[in-house]
Amino acid sequence: MSRIENQRRLFLELLEELRPHWRKDPGLPKHLTAWLADHRAGSRDRRLYRELAYTTWRILPWIEDATPETVVGRVARHAQRTDDTSAFIDQFASDSAEPPHSPNSLLPDWLESQNRDIFEPVQRDALLSRAPLWIRLQTTNHDAVAAEFTEHGIPFEPSKSVDGAWKIPAQTKITQTQAYQNGLYEVQDIGSQALLLSLPSPLAGNWLDACAGAGGKTLQLAGKLLPTGGTVTAYDVRRSALRELGNRQKRAKLSNITIDPSPTGHFDGVLVDAPCTGSGTWRRSPHLKWTTTTDGISRAHERQLLILAKFAHRVKIGGLLVYATCSLCREENEKVVESFRQSHPAFRPEPLRHPVSNDTLADGQLTLLPADLDSDAYFLAAFRRT
Ligand SMILES: C[S@@+](CC[C@H](N)C(=O)[O-])C[C@H]1O[C@@H](n2cnc3c(N)ncnc32)[C@H](O)[C@@H]1O
Repeated sequence: MSRIENQRRLFLELLEELRPHWRKDPGLPKHLTAWLADHRAGSRDRRLYRELAYTTWRILPWIEDATPETVVGRVARHAQRTDDTSAFIDQFASDSAEPPHSPNSLLPDWLESQNRDIFEPVQRDALLSRAPLWIRLQTTNHDAVAAEFTEHGIPFEPSKSVDGAWKIPAQTKITQTQAYQNGLYEVQDIGSQALLLSLPSPLAGNWLDACAGAGGKTLQLAGKLLPTGGTVTAYDVRRSALRELGNRQKRAKLSNITIDPSPTGHFDGVLVDAPCTGSGTWRRSPHLKWTTTTDGISRAHERQLLILAKFAHRVKIGGLLVYATCSLCREENEKVVESFRQSHPAFRPEPLRHPVSNDTLADGQLTLLPADLDSDAYFLAAFRRT
């Protein structure tokens, strides 16, 4: 059997391995990783099968009930062309492989009741496309980073809307440069970067980042607070994520972050970047389209409300409470804000500035959809404790 026929055979075998999990298990990528390890695939083959698997999840309803020949044709047609995939695409992709369905069928049925705006074709097509890689510069010396990227042949495109956000081709090995080792930039989606820019400026005082994770926003917040002498206390239920944040803090040389596994006291600002269904991240994690359920969204809503109420107590009178998700779902966004406000009348909406249009958002709520900045989707709400 030729090499390419063997790749086709193995890809179909991989699909049968994944099939029992793909409408059930949000941890689906771990089954792919296990299969790749079992098959001792080399790095080029790993990249090929990974792209084919992710393409399968992107277009799942178009291949689920198709014959093996059609499945291979459709996946090959929709896979991203790289050095690792081009032979497979050239061999198997065919024009007749296109199904007679609209792009809306690549989104789950429940989405319409959670977010109508995402069905506007430009937003929907962005959501169905692959996400680029964004970095956030942590230095004002952009020229130093540009010089090293140019030397290594790394293409970059600075954003016109968000200063210091650069777009890089998705497959770039971005953590091997000297500039990265020296903390001159971090990987952070531009939508995530834009959220803090919409808050009243300049940011000041002592902040609590209550769901810091590995610290994407913690580092950015600390950088913004540095000129005014402000600090960030970082907390998360996941200790392993906080350890990773510690490594990133060292690289960034930010002395105004304290990682605290049991924070106490009151803060001028509290950021609750809440755990959510991640429906705003489907460009990177397309399998979540098929494992997220309306029950799961309702559970996320309840959990978000509890976490928000718990950390609202930590805000000083006159201070800011900021709630964020990477979800497209009204139930996790506007509905959480609505329920929170009913039970917490002392928290009033704090006007925000839209990072693209510069408009003032008097209701203190910002939604970023994928086409706005070529990003994941996000929601942000801010309140002032009166
Ligand atoms: C959206 S992620 C945070 C991402 C992070 N802020 C960033 O910018 O990279 C949500 C985080 O909430 C954490 N989390 C879940 N339940 C929590 C709780 N009850 N209290 C604090 N953090 C929690 C999760 O461990 C996860 O790291």
